[in-house]
Parts: sequence; structure tokens; C-alpha cells
Amino acid sequence: MADQKAILKVGDKEIELPVMSGTAGQDVIDVRALGSHGYFTFDPGFMATGSCESAITYIDGANGVLLHRGYSIEELARDADYIELCYMLLHDKTPTAEEYSKFKDTITRHTLVHDQVNNFFRGFRRDAHPMAMLCGTVGALSSFYHDDLDISDENQRLRSAYRLVAKMPTLVAMCYKYNIGQPFVYPRNDLSYAENFLNMMFSVPAEQYKISPAVARAMDRIFILHADHEQNASTSTVRLAGSSGANPYACIAAGVASLWGPAHGGANEACLTMLEEIGSVDRIPEFIEKAKDKNDPFRLMGFGHRVYKNYDPRATVMRESCHEVLAELNIQDPLLDVAMELEKIALSDPYFKDKKLFPNVDFYSGIILKAIGIPTNMFTCIFALARTVGWISHWHEMLSQKGQKIGRPRQLYTGETQRKYSPIKKD
Ligand code: CMC
Repeated sequence: MADQKAILKVGDKEIELPVMSGTAGQDVIDVRALGSHGYFTFDPGFMATGSCESAITYIDGANGVLLHRGYSIEELARDADYIELCYMLLHDKTPTAEEYSKFKDTITRHTLVHDQVNNFFRGFRRDAHPMAMLCGTVGALSSFYHDDLDISDENQRLRSAYRLVAKMPTLVAMCYKYNIGQPFVYPRNDLSYAENFLNMMFSVPAEQYKISPAVARAMDRIFILHADHEQNASTSTVRLAGSSGANPYACIAAGVASLWGPAHGGANEACLTMLEEIGSVDRIPEFIEKAKDKNDPFRLMGFGHRVYKNYDPRATVMRESCHEVLAELNIQDPLLDVAMELEKIALSDPYFKDKKLFPNVDFYSGIILKAIGIPTNMFTCIFALARTVGWISHWHEMLSQKGQKIGRPRQLYTGETQRKYSPIKKD
């Protein structure tokens, strides 16, 4: 609502703060003037803090709504493809047929990485976690694109974005091939984005890989469902790193690092490991009890979300996709039975109901990825590949905004106050 004010009373002092409204969602109290009154806000974990203005993605957590540039994720997953969504996230409009084809061509023609990147891989142990290699090699791209890069120029920012979207599948596939000791496979320009990724993952020089259209479609849908999710931990990390004017490839490496944790993107790997550990439907109650036990650190992976207090709409699409893929590939996976029963039991348990803990995007994605033949330790890399467009769209948006400032939170200091230092006596 326009012209609303919030009045903050501290002792006998009254501080008037403006209230800002977006196009949808909760209003925010603009606390920027608080510092001049001698106060800062305190909000560890950003439970009630908006860190920026953004026009990319909108989430209504209470009603399970996710919109990219105003379009619902359900419609996008059904009718768009990942390349089109990338265009929309980066350009704030749906492409015309001509723009789509030009954009697709641009992405396709940037997929090769400098041959020197092969040598970076040789420094890693063969059994290194793929996310460790991805974090290092994405960051290392900054060594190829730095000196001539002017991030204040919109066209140069977009070129960096296109390069990242294009090269991510190549790097992710290289991480996999290095792990299993197979030669790297070069990108192929005659294939779609998802097909090219699958080909780089699964083909070998000795034999052609036959790409199943059903698998390519499922892969593309997984990319769509992970493309962006507004100000989550990794996106905020990218924005914070980028706010100092840092190199975009280094900023994306920071996003990869933040995504890796099991509370965030690492949940897909952790979820499949959990389903395997549960193993059979009869063991579910035991794990439900563990998840509810305050003294046990175990949580139901793939359940709960900071923003969604309703079904994660991505999980609904992922669930449907999971059934479709297993049917099309004719795979009977007992883990799907475990997942469905676990979901049913958890959703009817008062602990999960009261805390509004619903399955999130990571709950079903692991089963699809497993069916496609992707090993568990690669799951978070797939998430990073798909989320790169979201990260770089936010970075681009931030640097396009006037008066953009370096991110610099304050703190509540609880350490020693100033005291006298006495040097230790050295013999
Ligand atoms: N299993 C059991 N209890 C849970 C779970 C869970 N998965 N998630 C939250 N809780 C409980 C938690 O113990 C706490 O209880 P209490 O209020 O009694 O202390 C309450 O629910 C609120 O949890 P929280 O950790 O304070 O909530 P948060 O908003 O800080 O955390 C979360 C959100 C996603 C980190 C958390 O739900 C979680 O750890 N889930 C499992 C990991 C997971 O699936 N992560 C993927 C998120 S979706 C993909 C992405 O966008 O990254």
C-alpha cells in the first residue's frame, strides 16, 4: 500500500520507516535509515529480511506458487524448454521464434571450453567429489575471461552469462568422465542442450550413445525445475560476491560452493542416499521416528523448505515426471515405492503436518536421475548446471540496478570489550 509508514518505538524515541510494496507478495519495511538513528536490525538466517529488489522470480510459499517472469512453473515445465526459460530469465521477456533460434545458436556455439581446462582436471584425484571439481573449474574459467571483461557493460555481462550457460554442461560432464576414467567428450552442435549434455556424459569414442527422446525430455524438465528460486543461499552468495565487482565466473564458483550443502542443493544426493538406507517400506516408521527425535540430527531429506509452507510446486511436477520416466524406460525401482510411502506417512504425521513440512524439489529428482543413469554424487552438479542461469540472471540484474552497493551486513558483537594487551614472555 502506498504511503504506509512503520513506527518503531525504542525507549521514548520514535523512528518512522517507509513501507515498500512490490507487485506481489509481502510488503517490506525499509530499515535503511535505522543506522543514522544508532540501530541495526538483527536477523541471522535472514528469517525476515529482503536483501534486494528483483523482478525475476516470485514465490508464494503459503500457496505453493512459483513464477518465473510471471509465468507459472507448471506451465513452463509443460510447454517451454530450458533454453527458452534461460532467455526469459536473462532478458525479462519471452523470445520471438527468431530470438529463440538466435539465442539457442549462441548457446550452442559457446559450449566448448578452452583445451587448457583439460589440464586443470589432471590436478584432481580421480575420486574427488564432482562438486569439488566443478567449484574449482568454474572458478578457473575466470582466468580465461578477466582482463578484457568490463562488467559495467551490459553486452559483456550477457556474453559472460551465455558462456556460463553454455559451458556448464561441458564442465559437469567432464567432472563425471574424469571420475570414471573415461576420455572427455566434446560438445556436439547438432544436438539440443539436454541431448548434448547426455551425449557428453554417456558416449564413448568406441561406441555411439543412443539418446532416448524420453530421457532428453526428462533431463530438460529437471533443468527447468531447478533454473531459479529467488534469494536462496546460493543466489544470495552469488549476489554478495558480485556486489564487490568480482569476476562473474568466480561469483558462480561461490554459488556452487553454497549449493553443495545438504540443507540446500546437496539434499538431492542426501535424499537418494536416505531412500537407499531405508531400503524397504517396512523400515519407514523407524526413520520417521528418527526424524522427529530432537536428540537425533537425522532429518527427512527432501522435506521442508524455508519459504514453502505448502507443497513445493516443483515437487508436484517432479513426481509426475518421475512416474512418466520410469514407465517410459520400463524401470521398476523399489525406491519409488519407498519414496511414495514415505511421503504418504510423513504427510499424515502430526509432526510434519504441524510444522508444514512437505516434499521439496529434491524428493523425487534423485529417482529420475538414477533412472537416467546418473550416479548419486553427480546429482548436485546437475542442480548447479541448471541453477547457473538463475545465478547469473541475478548477478546481471544486480549490476544493472542504479546505486548498487557492496553487500555488507552488520553484527551484534558479543566478544571482549577493549582490554590491555600484555606481550607473552619469550625465552
Ligand atoms: N525433517 C525433520 N524435521 C525437520 C525437517 C526435516 N526435513 N525440516 C525441518 N524440520 C523441523 C526442524 O527440526 C524445526 O523443528 P523445531 O521448530 O521443533 O526446532 C522446524 O522443522 C523448522 O526447521 P528449520 O530448520 O528451523 O527451518 P528452516 O527454514 O531453517 O530450514 C530446510 C529449511 C530446507 C533447511 C529444512 O527443512 C531441512 O533441513 N530440510 C531437509 C534438507 C532439504 O531437503 N533441503 C532442500 C531444500 S529444497 C532445495 C533447495 O532449494 O535448496
